[in-house]
Amino acid sequence: MASATIEIRKLTPHCGAEIGGVDLAAAMDDPTFAAVHQALADHGVIFFRDQTLTPEQQKAFARRFGELHIHPAYPHLLAGHPEIMEIYADEKSQRVAGEAWHSDVSCDAEPPLGTVLYMVEVPPVGGDTLFASMYAAYDTLSEPMKRLLEGMTAIHDGEYVYRGRYEGVVEEGKVYPKSEHPVIRTHPVSGRKALFVNSTFTTRIVQLAKHESDAILGMLFRHVETPELQCRFRWDVGSVAFWDNRGVQHHAMWDYYPNRRRGLRATIRGDKPV
Ligand code: SIN
Repeated sequence: MASATIEIRKLTPHCGAEIGGVDLAAAMDDPTFAAVHQALADHGVIFFRDQTLTPEQQKAFARRFGELHIHPAYPHLLAGHPEIMEIYADEKSQRVAGEAWHSDVSCDAEPPLGTVLYMVEVPPVGGDTLFASMYAAYDTLSEPMKRLLEGMTAIHDGEYVYRGRYEGVVEEGKVYPKSEHPVIRTHPVSGRKALFVNSTFTTRIVQLAKHESDAILGMLFRHVETPELQCRFRWDVGSVAFWDNRGVQHHAMWDYYPNRRRGLRATIRGDKPV
């Protein structure tokens, strides 16, 4: 399919675009790949509707952007496809994946570039996903705050998030990823600066005293929740969201209990934030 057929419709001024005219199940030519790649970097998250994907097709699409990531802790993987996580909730669920603001697996030394979530079952209402632009989060900080944060680094701790989270997982001797990343990172494709701390994984700004770090992180976590930075996606069966973990955070809304929701998630490996 040629890129000439692609339509890109922005959802909000800062975050998200819906893409039409692309069949993700088909082999993607280079101009289409280039257009999708640029749209991802520009809008932070892109959405496709009415897709039908086998696990192989979903993986093939994701692999155009990089090698696939294997999650360090999540136990619910699609049989025969360890690169695909089953995101599932029903009336028996105690929690759902991603129900707080985060960038996926930011505790990894090389956190994921992006994530492709394909929805196969949706509740009658609810189960939206919220996204927030970390470009806009950075841009809307005051100049003195930008100067303070420039050059600082923060700890992202996987143990803090994953230990004890998943029933039946053997944890004895398990080492969870923990990494130090810049608080402000530069996106390798867009060249834009983005805030890179999140309330799920980030525990401490290294250069500050603990009480200073707690206060600044608390302020930044609230800033990330600013509605003007966000878009909100209403899923249908066959919808695909592809988010750029370097430029957005997301939050899965678990407001559909006791209804069911099921999606298949392929995650793409990234590189060291700079
Ligand atoms: C996730 O964080 O991977 C889950 C997102 C969602 O279910 O909307």
